[in-house]
Amino acid sequence: MCGIVGYLGKNRAADILIDGLSKLEYRGYDSAGVAIIENSDIDVNKCKGRLANLQEKLKEHVLDGKIGIGHTRWATHGEPSDVNSHPHTNESGTIAVVHNGIIENYLVLREWLSSEGYKFVSETDTEVIPHLVDYYYEGDLLDAVMKAVKRMEGSYAIGVICKDEPNKLIAVRKDSPLIVGVGKDESFIASDIPAVLNYTRDVYLLEDNEFVLIEDKGITILDENKKKVEKEIYHVTWNADAAEKGGYEHFMLKEIHEQPKAIKDTLTSRVVKGQKINLDSINITKEQIQDIDKIYIVACGTAYHAGLVGKTAIEKLAKVPVEVEVASEFRYREPLINERTLMIVISQSGETADTLAALRLAKAENARVIAVTNVVGSSVSREADDVLYTWAGPEIAVASTKAYVTQLIAMYIIALYFAENKGSIRQSEIDKIKCGLLNLSEEAAEVLNQKDIIKDFAKKICNDKDMYFLGRGLDYAVALEGSLKLKEISYIHSEAYAGGELKHGPIALIEKGTKVIALATQEHLFDKMLSNIKEVKTRGANVIAIAMEGHDVIEKTVDSAIYIPRVKSLLAPILSVIPLQLLSYYVSIEKGCDVDKPRNLAKSVTVE
Ligand code: F6R
Repeated sequence: MCGIVGYLGKNRAADILIDGLSKLEYRGYDSAGVAIIENSDIDVNKCKGRLANLQEKLKEHVLDGKIGIGHTRWATHGEPSDVNSHPHTNESGTIAVVHNGIIENYLVLREWLSSEGYKFVSETDTEVIPHLVDYYYEGDLLDAVMKAVKRMEGSYAIGVICKDEPNKLIAVRKDSPLIVGVGKDESFIASDIPAVLNYTRDVYLLEDNEFVLIEDKGITILDENKKKVEKEIYHVTWNADAAEKGGYEHFMLKEIHEQPKAIKDTLTSRVVKGQKINLDSINITKEQIQDIDKIYIVACGTAYHAGLVGKTAIEKLAKVPVEVEVASEFRYREPLINERTLMIVISQSGETADTLAALRLAKAENARVIAVTNVVGSSVSREADDVLYTWAGPEIAVASTKAYVTQLIAMYIIALYFAENKGSIRQSEIDKIKCGLLNLSEEAAEVLNQKDIIKDFAKKICNDKDMYFLGRGLDYAVALEGSLKLKEISYIHSEAYAGGELKHGPIALIEKGTKVIALATQEHLFDKMLSNIKEVKTRGANVIAIAMEGHDVIEKTVDSAIYIPRVKSLLAPILSVIPLQLLSYYVSIEKGCDVDKPRNLAKSVTVE
């Protein structure tokens, strides 16, 4: 939800800010803007729409200033428009602010500031910040920002510059991500690491309520009492290329193709043939595992779908009851949590507001929390008791693909780890699953080889208005993910149903030519699924099936079939989701949609 950047150094700030924003556009693309100190004044340029619009504007208005801030917006308060775009300034234009988050008490502040004579031009919550800083400004920007922040409730990562102190950039975060890039004679702030990777690999990962003072002489980090905070530099080991398209037309296609590697990286050193699961990063003891009497898996969207697979894996292998919950619902329903409850939160970004709130709720009730996340140093990783990183590498496309399969891997690893510690199933069974996991990377690559067949299917279905995904057991969990993928990037209405549930209502929607994607990879449910497929075929549906090799008998019933390698049913979701990801991708391309930046969406949902 919104991306912010800031720069102070020896180079043209405009170029560096625009480059940084281009790496953060996945966080929102309703508008973009920069504020740069130019000839002793703050020069603000901003406009509605994609970053390209701003770039076009800046072609005619070249800026040479060496300090500035920038913003790419996902609109919450106020429609996408030029005036609602960031940066926002005080009335005299001497203070400029970029903000990611929501100032929850902005109406109260706005009313009070208005009574003090301040005039507002936008509908945003953010605009109160430059006015507040102005109110407190007495010649020391850091001081004024610190005082302003004390009045603000909600979430924020902000960058502030001031005309009267042209060699200072101030930043602070609370519940919204912010990192500081440490360059040679130049410093950066950004919502995410890829924005600075072209310039430095050394970053500080900020904690909540830490202030950053960037000056020519370097970076100072302070706590809310102005006490200097000594922080270790985090050296980024992955390449800037990891956050580039690398020859692919879209990030999503690249990330789909990175899945074999992501699976391997997430397994490496944790799952080794003939050895116990090795989870160095997890401190939970054998006794604590044995004491757990309930697990909540809490997440949103795709990560929630990964949790559904996690439930089956943990219940089957570790024999502990698991409830999977959508984070935005969980936090408001007084769930039963105690010290024998374990919560597993799953979040690619590690910043999703509802997931973070659920984590905090669990901690407040003395439950232990394991975070499964892809972003090192993210909020959930810092606040959970244990972290299991998914080593998917940066995921840039808004539609999650490689993060999902690595979340599934993480779920299998946790399930096996618990099973080993509890002795809940036979070691021989555990060993078979480990072997299965270790083969998945190559098998995923085999599925990717079928992309041309899937491309042809996409051509046949791209003009449909509605589509249905069916599956039983784990196939139902994957059906939900396939359906989400299709709607978010191709805007085709689709729904996922459990195969057996159809006749309780939704089958009324099936008519001649209705497209149905049926997953039939679960060995023990195959015959039942075949019956469900026949039910929709009889009513005229056109069915594409995803099945395991060896189940080609399905061709007698369906119109077309895509096969995945034969694996244990428990592990099939890792492979069966890939054709669905590719199908959504190619349908989106056929329809001419913006695959990586679907309308109304942002990658990281840091507001409720
Ligand atoms: C869909 C998608 C979203 C996210 C959800 C949670 O493709 O990406 O549904 O899965 O917003 O995000 P994280 O995992 O960052 O908490």
